[in-house]
Amino acid sequence: MSESAIVIRKCHNLDEMSACVRLQKEVWNFADAELVPLRVFVAAEKIGGQIIGAFDDGKMVAFALSVPGSRGGRSYLHSQMLAVQSEYRNAGLGRQIKLFQREDALARGFELVEWTFDPLEIKNAYLNIERLGAIARRYHVNQYGITSSPLQGCLPSDRLVAEWWLKSDRVERLLRSAQKPGFETLKTISVPAEIYEWKVSPATRERAREVQDCNRKDFLQAFSDGMAVLGYERDPQGAGKFLLGRWEETWMYPA
Ligand SMILES: CC(C)(COP(=O)(O)OP(=O)(O)OC[C@H]1O[C@@H](n2cnc3c(N)ncnc32)[C@H](O)[C@@H]1OP(=O)(O)O)[C@@H](O)C(=O)NCCC(=O)NCCS
Repeated sequence: MSESAIVIRKCHNLDEMSACVRLQKEVWNFADAELVPLRVFVAAEKIGGQIIGAFDDGKMVAFALSVPGSRGGRSYLHSQMLAVQSEYRNAGLGRQIKLFQREDALARGFELVEWTFDPLEIKNAYLNIERLGAIARRYHVNQYGITSSPLQGCLPSDRLVAEWWLKSDRVERLLRSAQKPGFETLKTISVPAEIYEWKVSPATRERAREVQDCNRKDFLQAFSDGMAVLGYERDPQGAGKFLLGRWEETWMYPA
């Protein structure tokens, strides 16, 4: 990736939004009926959401889609999708798009961006918790049903809710100095490195399902005990580990 040539900016016209739909299809390989259609991108931009694109020499190579949300009388942005074309991954582009998203959200008065992610996706969890500073204290069982995306491997679409408190000390310190405030780890929840290959093959999928079932119980129990995901570790073999502790920070609204 020629980093200097990549331009990150908001998308406004139909051609750019159509490019998002095409990239969505390429990245998730959803059946057409499960794709978020062009009209939703158009509506999202008009109602205060965000369509952000990254362009390499004019060609879209990544995008993010957000829609405005409201809970308990407060507005936030719900980030529905972030996609980076496979040749452009692991070079910091996903993180840069999230940082652009944060700046734009702050400029428009939002303090919170939320999104959901699959807790079996080690890379996404690491990016969300360790590199961006999101926390998680809510778990949705089989949020979208069983989808056609091969990334899901025919498992229930369980999701953690990432809460990104844009002006929190945690996030500001992390973005400034790559360090977040310390916390006491009270519980850990592990994901084996083999999870990706287990999900892909019908012969091993049952093992992935067992990890999902076991972790689901642990997350639900820990969250009902008042814990949150505050950290994430990767080991040299590629396994991931959620670190949970107490969240008592005053900068968060109630869940
Ligand atoms: C998730 C996604 C958007 C990330 O984009 P990206 O440009 O690759 O992300 P970045 O390069 O900014 O950050 C990825 C981080 O994860 C790390 N990483 C890469 N592979 C990893 C792995 N197997 N396990 C743990 N961490 C991993 C990278 O090293 C990088 O961290 P670093 O900045 O400390 O080096 C991209 O992989 C993607 O489009 N995936 C498919 C769609 C998807 O899952 N979208 C998110 C849910 S909506």
